Amino acid sequence: MNAGILGVGRHVPENVVTNQDLEKKMDTSDEWIRTRTGIEERRIASDDIDTSDMAYEAALNAIEQAGISGADLDLILVATVTPDTPFPSVSCMLQERLGAKKAAAMDISAACAGFMYGLVTAKQFIESGSYKNILVVGVEKLSKITNWDDRNTAVLFGDGAGAAVVGPVSIGKGILAFELGADGTGGKHLYQEGEYLVMNGREVFKFAVRQMGESCVNVLEKAGIDKEDVDLLIPHQANIRIMDAARQRLELPEEKMSKTVHKYGNTSAASIPISIVEELEAGKIKDGDLIVMVGFGGGLTWGAIAMRWGR
Ligand code: UT7
Repeated sequence: MNAGILGVGRHVPENVVTNQDLEKKMDTSDEWIRTRTGIEERRIASDDIDTSDMAYEAALNAIEQAGISGADLDLILVATVTPDTPFPSVSCMLQERLGAKKAAAMDISAACAGFMYGLVTAKQFIESGSYKNILVVGVEKLSKITNWDDRNTAVLFGDGAGAAVVGPVSIGKGILAFELGADGTGGKHLYQEGEYLVMNGREVFKFAVRQMGESCVNVLEKAGIDKEDVDLLIPHQANIRIMDAARQRLELPEEKMSKTVHKYGNTSAASIPISIVEELEAGKIKDGDLIVMVGFGGGLTWGAIAMRWGR
């Protein structure tokens, strides 16, 4: 049996912060942000909304779309680096709120690659026959750890959540191949110090361009699929220049790459599942489509998945 996605959901805060809003708060410009990153606006959650609240809304949608209820969940995996508290985990908070009485629950810390780590972990439990319904959530309230006095990072990030229910699908559908990786020697380029996120953007940029392309090529090779058979690339939405580099490595035209970075900025672990939902809503993912997802982030970590959409 294969593991695939049975339902998805997303939730983003209502509050839109545009580049023009940021121009008023710091020494930056819409032109700089747009040309260097592709970001036009992002969503920032209000003080009374925490990570678990966004995760809960996204999870409800995913569960409904999968046609199950919270009580059917066997396991909850939440990828986040901005949990409400170190413990209890966000996954345990969801377990209570969703009434997922029989579900085990744990958070995954793999930064922006977290949703890839979550899907691949879920796949193991599904394919071993241990579990049937696994909720995987990617969620961040990055605004909590954003230093608004640091223009190098403050313009890049946004808040949001995306979720998927993973379960058994027919052979030939679902996750066909994956690659996960980590390089702790690069941890010094992207980390949290005290209350704030700190980043050496240039180093992360170089790593991301190399690793995203490499991982995409590797998963296609593992799945035995040619580049020209890819219907949609869903890269982690960090920076349009990094995303385009991965796309060019697969020799894909612009319309075969998911792009939501202009609307939401970099939402870390949430960016890939949010993009999946948006592409489904836009009719750009159809049953049987071959999708490549790829993420990278602090750790350093990375992960890629080749998936045949459908049940
Ligand atoms: O999810 C993973 C997390 N991180 C990433 O994916 C980030 C990866 N890195 C990047 O996306 C890019 O490196 C950045 C977008 C962060 C920066 O782009 P860059 O082309 O690498 O710019 P840079 O760091 O080389 O900086 C160019 C200039 C600098 O000025 P000087 O030293 O040349 O005078 C910066 O001070 O741009 C300046 N700068 C800004 N100017 C206006 C940096 N941030 C801003 C800003 N507004 N917000």
